[in-house]
Amino acid sequence: MYRRPRSARETELLEKAKRLLPAGVRTPTFSPEHAIVVESARGARIRDVSGNEYIDYLLGSGPMLLGHAHPAVVRAVREALERGSTYLLLNEPAILLAEEIAQAVPCAEKVSLHNVGAEATSFAIRLARAYRKRDKILKFEGAFHGMSDWALLSTHWTREFAPLPHAVPNSAGIPEGVVRDVLIAPFNDLEATESLLERHRDELACVIVEPLQRTIAPVPGFLEGLREMTRRRDIPLVFDEVVTGFRLGLGGAQEYYGVVPDLCAIGKSLSGGHPIAALCGRAELMDRIDPARAGTSEYVRLSGTYSANPISAVAARATLAELRKPGAYERLFASGRTLMDALGRLLRDAGIPAQILGEPPAFEVFFADHEITDFRSSLRADRATHARFVECLLERGIVKAHEKFFLSLAHTEEDLATTIEAFEGAIGDLVRSRARGGVAGDAKAQIERGKA
Ligand SMILES: Cc1ncc(COP(=O)(O)O)c(C=O)c1O
Repeated sequence: MYRRPRSARETELLEKAKRLLPAGVRTPTFSPEHAIVVESARGARIRDVSGNEYIDYLLGSGPMLLGHAHPAVVRAVREALERGSTYLLLNEPAILLAEEIAQAVPCAEKVSLHNVGAEATSFAIRLARAYRKRDKILKFEGAFHGMSDWALLSTHWTREFAPLPHAVPNSAGIPEGVVRDVLIAPFNDLEATESLLERHRDELACVIVEPLQRTIAPVPGFLEGLREMTRRRDIPLVFDEVVTGFRLGLGGAQEYYGVVPDLCAIGKSLSGGHPIAALCGRAELMDRIDPARAGTSEYVRLSGTYSANPISAVAARATLAELRKPGAYERLFASGRTLMDALGRLLRDAGIPAQILGEPPAFEVFFADHEITDFRSSLRADRATHARFVECLLERGIVKAHEKFFLSLAHTEEDLATTIEAFEGAIGDLVRSRARGGVAGDAKAQIERGKA
């Protein structure tokens, strides 16, 4: 155990949280026993109220691509605050940000600014429905597009299945009509997707895909095939780039994988940690947002009180200025590659079957010795060992998301070296518990059960 014990203050805060917050102290990342209360964060480091400092690979679930409290972002926000924080009216930072996004993102002929990823993906769906005058959408099993009713279906939280293409709700409170309008296809399976598309071509409004689904990369030809089959039927293709936008490069996954969608949603990495998201796409679709069309069957209403506020816009512009600096993405990719390689090697040396998936700026380890190309094959990995690994890392001063390592430009060589040491220690813990017949000892058996 490398952490100090919980302080009285942190214990008191956790008890209050348990009493007052409906989610209690269970965060998406840690169990109650491992919950921490954050005191502050700077660069790649995050501190809890008990005085522990961690190297952060959660990064607020991705947005802190420059690291926490980046001086350029803080300066820009501080200056902007003096000029007021929201107007609902056009403002210079928002217009200039739209221009920068349009220059960087291949599909972005027009840009509409919103607050969070879930808004941008849901507004993309509404635009596509208006364009096609159809209601059904096709999404992929295991993909996550935010917390809207249509999106909380057959996501990565699914553990029980209906036969495809039937969707499974991942929350109570989702109307049956919404479930009926969402068709589910297996990621990376072009043949199955095309046959669904053909069967439902006259009912479909769009296809939405995470081009890098969680950390499962598209197999060669998958995104190209999707592009071709949707274009042929005039069905808009929507890329959810809330994670990949500005993380895989200035042009996001569409530039990285070389496939340009009709619409895309961008969030997280654009934001410098402030709530902002962008819906971008072809003018022919995006122009339906223009209120000059109000009163016609073409008009799509999309707005929000805080949309295009100048504070989030200056934070995003300051972020993009850093990302455009020569070598920024090379450094980000090199850091991720260093960790991916080290983790793979250490697990191999320890004889623990594992695969490192994803791209260097966002990757994950799966404890499995079978190939993982879609959601169902990812579920056959040993999740108990994974959960234990995340906890062992926390005990050694490393915070990571439950399903990804997010890299930032603030992670230094020293942070990476410390992280690799923590990998070594955590893997040693797994090996020891396997020797005792504990969690890692179950890995093989689980994999065998999964194969059966
Ligand atoms: C791929 C993807 N789309 C959409 C969202 C929703 O974004 P937000 O939480 O900003 O609403 C997320 C959030 O994790 C995401 O990972």
